[in-house]
Amino acid sequence: METISIIDSKDYVDQKVKIGVWLTNKRSSGKIAFLQLRDGTAYFQGVVVKSNVSEETFKLAKELKQETSMYVVGTIHEDTRSHFGYEIEIEDIEVVGKSENYPITPKEHGTDFLMDHRHLWLRSKRQFAVMKIRNEVIRATYEFFNKEGFIKLDAPILTGSAPEGTTELFHTEYFDKDAYLSQSGQLYEEAGAMAYGKVFSFGPTFRAEKSKTRRHLIEFWMIEPEMAFMHQEESLEIQERYIAYLVQNVLDHCDYELGILGRDRDVLKRYTELPYPRISYDEAIDLLKESGEFPDVKWGEDFGSPEETYLAEHFNKPVFVMNYPKAIKPFYMKPHPTRDDVVICADLLAPEGYGEIIGGSERSTDPEYLEEQIVKAGLNKDDYEWYLDLRRYGSVPHSGFGLGLERCITWLTGEDHIREAIPFPRLLNRIYP
Ligand code: 4AD
Ligand code: MG
Repeated sequence: METISIIDSKDYVDQKVKIGVWLTNKRSSGKIAFLQLRDGTAYFQGVVVKSNVSEETFKLAKELKQETSMYVVGTIHEDTRSHFGYEIEIEDIEVVGKSENYPITPKEHGTDFLMDHRHLWLRSKRQFAVMKIRNEVIRATYEFFNKEGFIKLDAPILTGSAPEGTTELFHTEYFDKDAYLSQSGQLYEEAGAMAYGKVFSFGPTFRAEKSKTRRHLIEFWMIEPEMAFMHQEESLEIQERYIAYLVQNVLDHCDYELGILGRDRDVLKRYTELPYPRISYDEAIDLLKESGEFPDVKWGEDFGSPEETYLAEHFNKPVFVMNYPKAIKPFYMKPHPTRDDVVICADLLAPEGYGEIIGGSERSTDPEYLEEQIVKAGLNKDDYEWYLDLRRYGSVPHSGFGLGLERCITWLTGEDHIREAIPFPRLLNRIYP
């Protein structure tokens, strides 16, 4: 008899197997007990028929408590009524770890209660599905950039720089010096691009943002590719192929999980069709004005969530909004060749209300211009000498972007809130558990 995982049930129909499981729920009558089981690979049902098992086994089955861990031995059958498609007819149960008064019961709980029990809540079905999709997105990311000839170059977490502005920095001490938790690995990836051509980083980033929204985390993970000898147009092509690749791989490898989440596959399928529309910031402003829904919208201001939602819904697809006003973008972006009020950049806005999932730009190659911008941004020039060196020694046109992993996962899974897209979310008022 083999010990298997639930997910492999299809290969063991009518065979006797052993599986290590936890009990998620239970229903029983005088003659039969239905045990809802999970093992981290899938969820399915175990059936215990009184007339087929020993008296002790049936009694044990009826007394099992939620989240008890155990080995079950039995025969796999098809179960066409369930989403998973298989069940196990149990002959024997061996309890491994008992569980009394598991706090998360099948009844409804409030969000705060569930967040306080995140370490247990992760066992639940929707959370399982989201984490599996997160894993697939990470796997497909490495695969995509590997196929495209990028190397992964890790950026530091402790830094002395503030690429995305000084207001959202997490300050810490570095012996007798000041340091910050990384807001972005970008500046280091620029050094990487000059050394190795095409690089990407994937790591945690930190923003002390006082925003309490469905889209903001204090700690989130970012994928940041940076490409030498590349202008913005070519970077946009990589970005859309990358997103389409992620969507396609989730469709191909996470069908069971999409089913658990009730995510419409046809909607996702549409997002694999390229190219994505491209509009300028100016055109976006015109669209918002014409809609009549944003009477106060003014050129020069950043978009909020309602504006981003409107724009992406208008196209019913992810949309690139290009060339934002210089005044609302970071110091490193390349200025427009014929206009001094906008920069060569783009944000990719996801449809269905999920907003900006990618921010990217072509980078300025002009050390004098950059020096000026660094000072203007209130940054200490000495901290950026190394960055300016990249322009002094064999500078080339280069572009890059950052995908917010959790924003992307929230969108792909159709979850309401970004806290669902990361195992242990760090939010404005939460660092437990
Ligand atoms: O637009 P951002 O700030 O761009 C950068 O950090 C660039 N240095 C990236 C680059 O060009 N290498 O952030 C990039 C993405 C956003 O589009 C968004 O998806 C995500 O990171 N993001 C957040 N996700 C969750 N919580 C937050 N507080 C986020 N802030 C940004
Ligand atoms: Mg941005």
